[in-house]
Amino acid sequence: MSRSFFLGTAIPYLNGVPHLGHALEWIYADVITRYQRQQGRQVRFSMGSDDHGQKVIRAAAASQRSPQQQTDVVLEVFQGLAQQLEVDYDTWTRTSSPAHHIAAQALWQRLAAAGALELRKYDGLYCIGCEAFKTEKDLTSDGLCPDHQVPPEPRSEQNYFFKLSSYQDQLLAYYEQHPQLVTPHEKYAEMKQFVAAGLEDVSFSRVKDETGWGVLVPDAPDQVMYVWCDALVNYLTAAGFPDNLESDGYWPADVIVVGKDINRFHSVLFTAMLLAADLPVPTQFAVHGHIMVNGQKMSKSLGNVIDPAQLIDRYGVEATRYLLLREVPFRSDGDVSLEQFDARYTADLCNGLGNLLSRTTNMIEKYAQGKINIKDQAVVGNADLRSLQDPYTEAISDYKFHLALEVIWQLIAQANQTIDDHKPWELAKTDTAAAVLILEGVGRDLLLIAHWLTPFMPQTAEIIIQALHAKPILKTQPLFPRLT
Ligand code: MSP
Repeated sequence: MSRSFFLGTAIPYLNGVPHLGHALEWIYADVITRYQRQQGRQVRFSMGSDDHGQKVIRAAAASQRSPQQQTDVVLEVFQGLAQQLEVDYDTWTRTSSPAHHIAAQALWQRLAAAGALELRKYDGLYCIGCEAFKTEKDLTSDGLCPDHQVPPEPRSEQNYFFKLSSYQDQLLAYYEQHPQLVTPHEKYAEMKQFVAAGLEDVSFSRVKDETGWGVLVPDAPDQVMYVWCDALVNYLTAAGFPDNLESDGYWPADVIVVGKDINRFHSVLFTAMLLAADLPVPTQFAVHGHIMVNGQKMSKSLGNVIDPAQLIDRYGVEATRYLLLREVPFRSDGDVSLEQFDARYTADLCNGLGNLLSRTTNMIEKYAQGKINIKDQAVVGNADLRSLQDPYTEAISDYKFHLALEVIWQLIAQANQTIDDHKPWELAKTDTAAAVLILEGVGRDLLLIAHWLTPFMPQTAEIIIQALHAKPILKTQPLFPRLT
């Protein structure tokens, strides 16, 4: 039996439509899971939506909908985008679903039984953008939330608290024993520092408002759970908690993919919740950077979003995946622009990969009557292959997708170079067999390129494989139309 592999992505709030940042996170996650499936792992790829919280309640009120209607409408847009981007998830957890309510309440009860929760009066400042209480040291010198550039609102309530501060030592010890828990390294270092500086307890419930939207706190029906307390449980819900967690065999998660703005909620808060509840902690939190526009995070709250549909219209889905993965390295914040995407599209896709496939199939049709001998998985007659295999595997395993693509494009460049050097069109005039041999070698290169490309551009890879397995092989349509 193949080993199982569980990946979860952060679940977006459904207060507005998705933007490129969401698309990017899903594409990263999709590459990881497609790669794992290719390696023979039994994958559960979990996505979902954060239906609760004040952002959603406010957005619903602003569009004169109930929170249920609001999330129903927006959910379709999010799921439609995921499908369009070929993000091949297995489960979608809506936090408003009955199964999730059961899971969140079951976790709550475990926390309560462990003595990790306490009822207290609370006065504090709340940022709705972050869905988080803030202390003075979290704010700018003008008293604004640095991410949302608005002042947090004063709140005074009777809430349940999660006693996060009492888990400081346990967290630090856990970090010590699990050096791979958070990647990349510097994002882990930030968390260790944050925990070492001392933790504050977290308000974990709030008084239910007139919409009643949220997960009810067991034994305190006037309260709903704090949105993060409920949302973080989505990964457990997807893994079968509470009843089937063990029998499903997907927990602990292998990797949870999140943006750097919510690293703390996962690496610190969620980890502490799981330790307190005596449940296994995910093997890894993989923390990615942000897509930036003019040096600022692309975000709905800041109103500077690029609509993914705009890119899909211009480049097509597969090229959009490529451009995002190539231009925004997982670990860093990438400023994106259409000029940069256009240049990359033309150079790498039209002139690089697209040209390689069309001229190769064209010459196979012309000089070999469409019949050549390419065996699947055949070793490429290419001396440099061995030097490319390890860098490819290392890069993709370490979430350095831009580098894995760079390796594939080195192979594409080599294959194009082989054609330029040997000029099969000239060779065919005097020695057809020699020309065919060159084309067979390039055909095999193309099969390897397709194999390596599968997690990134699944349809393109499939088109290449089909084209080379066709009998007879015929000149293909351009893979990537030129931009107009
Ligand atoms: N609902 C919470 C997550 C709960 S997970 C238990 C949330 N939602 S969000 O819609 O604001 O963000 C969802 C994911 O998208 C997060 O991982 C976030 O980091 C990511 N991104 C949001 N803006 C982004 C960019 N500009 N660039 C890349 N990813 C971005 O937080």
